[in-house]
Amino acid sequence: MFPVRMRVALGVITALVIALLSSVPALAEGPWPNDPQGPIARTIAEIYWIMFIAAVVVLAIVDGALIYAGIKFRERPGHVAQQFHGHNMLELTWTIIPTIMVVSFSVLSWQKLDFINNTRGGDVGMVIQAEGVQWSWNFSYPHEDRFRLKDGATYLTGARELHIPVGTKVRIELSAKDVIHSFWVPSLGGKKDAVPGRATDLWIQADRPGTYKGQCLEFCGNGHADMLITLVAHPVSEYAAWIDAAKAEAERVNAPETARGRELFRSLACSGCHTVRGLTGGKFPGAPELTNVASKPSIVGGLLTPVNEENLRRWISNPQAVKPGTAMPNLGLSEQQVADIVNFLLILK
Ligand code: CUA
Repeated sequence: MFPVRMRVALGVITALVIALLSSVPALAEGPWPNDPQGPIARTIAEIYWIMFIAAVVVLAIVDGALIYAGIKFRERPGHVAQQFHGHNMLELTWTIIPTIMVVSFSVLSWQKLDFINNTRGGDVGMVIQAEGVQWSWNFSYPHEDRFRLKDGATYLTGARELHIPVGTKVRIELSAKDVIHSFWVPSLGGKKDAVPGRATDLWIQADRPGTYKGQCLEFCGNGHADMLITLVAHPVSEYAAWIDAAKAEAERVNAPETARGRELFRSLACSGCHTVRGLTGGKFPGAPELTNVASKPSIVGGLLTPVNEENLRRWISNPQAVKPGTAMPNLGLSEQQVADIVNFLLILK
């Protein structure tokens, strides 16, 4: 039987292996830096693999030599352990080789950083603003005329979704409203902090159409883990159609006849939690998105059906009376305010 210490060690190793294996499905699901789908991500992955392979080779040589020496020169009956004090050749070797390696890696990284940090080159095809706010991202396109709404307003996605055309170098201008956040879509590029009061930027480019996942990578409070990014890369030929659809949705949401309700929705606590595409990005993950609330069969998880003026009014005037314990607060609105908000919600078909 194994001695106790050996058994403890085996137990710990087994637990670690199981923990590692159990995280494999999560890796396959989530953002994964070693699946580069754009120039920056590819550059970073190249540096990563060069350094990783060099590290594995060094590990094999050093550990191989260590194990070999430990067995070959160990003290045993009839054999005294050998000593290697002051072996000039060996000491020079293990000083010079690591120095050359570290300097080479620095030069290599330095060269690549020029490419990665070049956000201002003439080849930039599009500029998007990303604002980090606890706990969501607001993406807007103020530099792009094709995103301008009829009343001159700037289009805002308001849904943690970022849409770009394939094969275009896109500069993302980062800002933060409250605390430090970090923009990271690993398959497409590196990450960059969004810092309150400071302008930072990075660029991304997608080689292929598809949906890429991203995540805020700076711990920013309770909702940090929910601060996800869905980046959709459209074929260039379909991008214009997406812009038109997105703008039509925003125009509908911003229709002048519902301005009073919309402004209440935006200025009161509603917009803090609920997402309405083209208007606000909700920051409370449990709050239902309301972009198409008027087309839904019911609200409050089926408690109120259909979605009509009367039911919306009942719910907004006194949520606790409809569903005791709900996270939706009673804002103490006047009858007129409730009517205005209901009027606005009813156009969200
Ligand atoms: Cu924002 Cu973490």
